[in-house]
Amino acid sequence: MGATSHPQLDRLQEVVTALWPDHARFLRNSLAGYGAEDLAAIEDLARRVCALAGEDLDTFVRSYRWLCGEMNKEALHFKRRGEYRLSTFAEANAQVYSNGAFMRRYMEGLLVSQVLWRNHSAAFLYFRQAFLPRLPQPFRYLEIGPGHGLFLSVAAEHPACGLAEAWDVSEESLRQTAAALATVGLHGRVRLELQDIHAPTRPPGPAAAYDGIAICEVLEHLERPREALQSLRRFLAPGGTLFINVPINSPAPDHIYLLRDEAEVREMVTRAGLEVVDLQLAPMTGYSLAEAQRQKATVNCFVLAR
Ligand SMILES: C[S@@+](CC[C@H](N)C(=O)[O-])C[C@H]1O[C@@H](n2cnc3c(N)ncnc32)[C@H](O)[C@@H]1O
Repeated sequence: MGATSHPQLDRLQEVVTALWPDHARFLRNSLAGYGAEDLAAIEDLARRVCALAGEDLDTFVRSYRWLCGEMNKEALHFKRRGEYRLSTFAEANAQVYSNGAFMRRYMEGLLVSQVLWRNHSAAFLYFRQAFLPRLPQPFRYLEIGPGHGLFLSVAAEHPACGLAEAWDVSEESLRQTAAALATVGLHGRVRLELQDIHAPTRPPGPAAAYDGIAICEVLEHLERPREALQSLRRFLAPGGTLFINVPINSPAPDHIYLLRDEAEVREMVTRAGLEVVDLQLAPMTGYSLAEAQRQKATVNCFVLAR
């Protein structure tokens, strides 16, 4: 990979390895095997991540390193006990969502991981290459739990996007999404709403019907993810597509709902009254799919449903 063809990706890797030299091998593993087209898309991803980080890329990279440490602690617990440390929304809310300082570092770290973790870059590629091209022109887009705002900014900037909205249950999270969108000049272009996906106050109907709904890395944060999907289904416009990105066996500080394999994801989606149109699996960095499944390492599951 030459410095000239992927300048933002190179820059990001340089900042990370300057701060964390031992992480260099992990980074190489994460990007290994991607072809030229995917790498060009990942360069665009890195450009967006650097833009969202703004002047503060070093701080974001420090948050990324901290996040990897927090994830390792959760992984140890999962390995020993076979379950996530937390199981209720109240616990996650108290420890993470309502803790502004924790949330800020968490979202900063997660933003950087979008490029550096294989399962996350794969999610971005799938979102751009499989989900967005399915939407009509113009499309109405809703995202649940946009966090760092990466997916939301890609959808909102898409030439065919007629409307972009996002809902989140956490005011702190929405504040951070708003700040991220402002950094990339999207302030005012996206409507952000405080909404609990379990009990949205917006009634479904023509004013709240979306051609594309994305819910990325949110279902594992919920006590009743199937009911959340049932609730979301009512907001799909006729012919609309739901994009679900949910990790399997993925211990994290605020993950409370454990999905153990692809079959459990399929069952959850179909029991919510949705039809699975496509399903793909992306193992975490350093694992083949078979090895990740054998060792119960994290695998992200991407689903298109209608
Ligand atoms: C880890 S972040 C996901 C960020 C981003 N989508 C990503 O892919 O990394 C999870 C988000 O889901 C939100 N969330 C959790 N429970 C929710 C609920 N019941 N309704 C709406 N949003 C919720 C949290 O506040 C948080 O912003």
